[in-house]
Amino acid sequence: MNQNARSKPVDVVVVGMGARAMIYAQETLRHPEMLHIVGVADVNPQAVRLARDTFGIPEERCFSSSEALASVPRFAQGAINGTMDPQHVSTTLPLLRRGYDVLLEKPFALDQYQADLLLSCARETGRRVMICHVLRYASFYRRLKELIVSGELGHIINIQMTEQVSYFHESVSYIRGKYASPEICGSGMLLSKCCHDLDIMAWLMAPNHPACVTSLGSVFQFRPEMAPSGAGSHCLLDCPIQRECHYSARHLYLEYPQRWANNIWHDCGHEGASEEEKLHLLSDPANPYSRCVYRCDLRIVDHQSVMIGFSDGATGTFCMNGGATASSRTIHLTGTKGEAAGCFEDDRLTVSLISPQAPGGRQVRVENLTPAKRGAAHGGGDQALVMDFVALLRGEKPSLCSTTLEDSITGHRLVFLAEDSRRQNGEMLAF
Ligand SMILES: NC(=O)c1ccc[n+]([C@@H]2O[C@H](COP(=O)([O-])OP(=O)(O)OC[C@H]3O[C@@H](n4cnc5c(N)ncnc54)[C@H](O)[C@@H]3O)[C@@H](O)[C@H]2O)c1
Repeated sequence: MNQNARSKPVDVVVVGMGARAMIYAQETLRHPEMLHIVGVADVNPQAVRLARDTFGIPEERCFSSSEALASVPRFAQGAINGTMDPQHVSTTLPLLRRGYDVLLEKPFALDQYQADLLLSCARETGRRVMICHVLRYASFYRRLKELIVSGELGHIINIQMTEQVSYFHESVSYIRGKYASPEICGSGMLLSKCCHDLDIMAWLMAPNHPACVTSLGSVFQFRPEMAPSGAGSHCLLDCPIQRECHYSARHLYLEYPQRWANNIWHDCGHEGASEEEKLHLLSDPANPYSRCVYRCDLRIVDHQSVMIGFSDGATGTFCMNGGATASSRTIHLTGTKGEAAGCFEDDRLTVSLISPQAPGGRQVRVENLTPAKRGAAHGGGDQALVMDFVALLRGEKPSLCSTTLEDSITGHRLVFLAEDSRRQNGEMLAF
């Protein structure tokens, strides 16, 4: 790659200009020297207009679908696909066939069949697909990967990971919102939420490969039998206990709106609604966001555990609990020479190495990671991912975190098998 090409911004189009794609696209405003949005396709004309006006896209490069965009000769190097989960494969295939390299949101496929279809299309067309596994780019997980690759911890014997999903995130997204509905998001919580975690586990353990998987999970809490005594069916209409309930829609979406409530107004097309309008909208009997969380006929799990055996005998466990006090991800790696542990939200790792000469027989150090990025979504991973996509389009060497399709398939396959195992009451399945 010559210096001239490197200094020019890469041109990209966006397909599915929703909340996620807008986060990535806004990097063009911060870094116009790196990338430039030159086209958009969305089935929602409002989303197309917003993109056109925000990024100055000419009218003739605004399209109503991925197919329509792909029907004209390619006019950019790459495409960012931010459609919802069930559209990922059908909207990416035409882009690959038209010659675009694609940055695709996770989960990149809903099942193994779709995953294989996408992979074979990428191979046939010779195009590259990068998956938005943004957590790999967060300093916390990147540092863990560096530690493993350096050999400081020895051979990894066990990896334990947990994901706690706060009660307000759980209820807005996985009980009342679009990720609770297999019709809208096409899958259960392990794929829509935790494909990141199983991707991290597969990536950290690579080149060691999973050999078998087992999983258990259920709807433990969010069912009618667990409703507090006297609870109604709609927070604002018929619930005498809504003032005391942790899941009151009034508390969560009107009184403390910073807690994920923005998702609601975006997802139901009422971004920018006034407080009065919000109260009116939530009082509608048909509004899904004011349903009693215990009476939503939940069809996805609210907690799940997965156990994985690796080909060299190492083991991994992952536990997700929805309805926790706060959101957090923790990890504990045990190797033959030492351990590393920490909580992603703290952006801090404790590394402990076997050392017979040291006091207590071990050396312990605490690594504080990029405090400047603390509070940034996904630990700064969103922004770093976009820059890695730019590097990929420029033909530069992929980073240690690079999340190509081939490289991401193991984590997704772990999810597909864990879900099969859970449906078979924890049957151990070969990878
Ligand atoms: N990487 C992450 O950490 C992360 C975090 C949250 C969400 N996500 C994923 O991002 C994706 C998008 O989520 P979102 O909240 O931005 O959704 P969204 O609903 O805000 O955006 C989706 C957009 O796609 C458009 N669309 C739908 N069908 C289309 C089609 N056939 N062609 C073109 N456009 C189409 C919709 O009109 C909408 O504008 C989801 O797959 C979600 O799982 C990823």
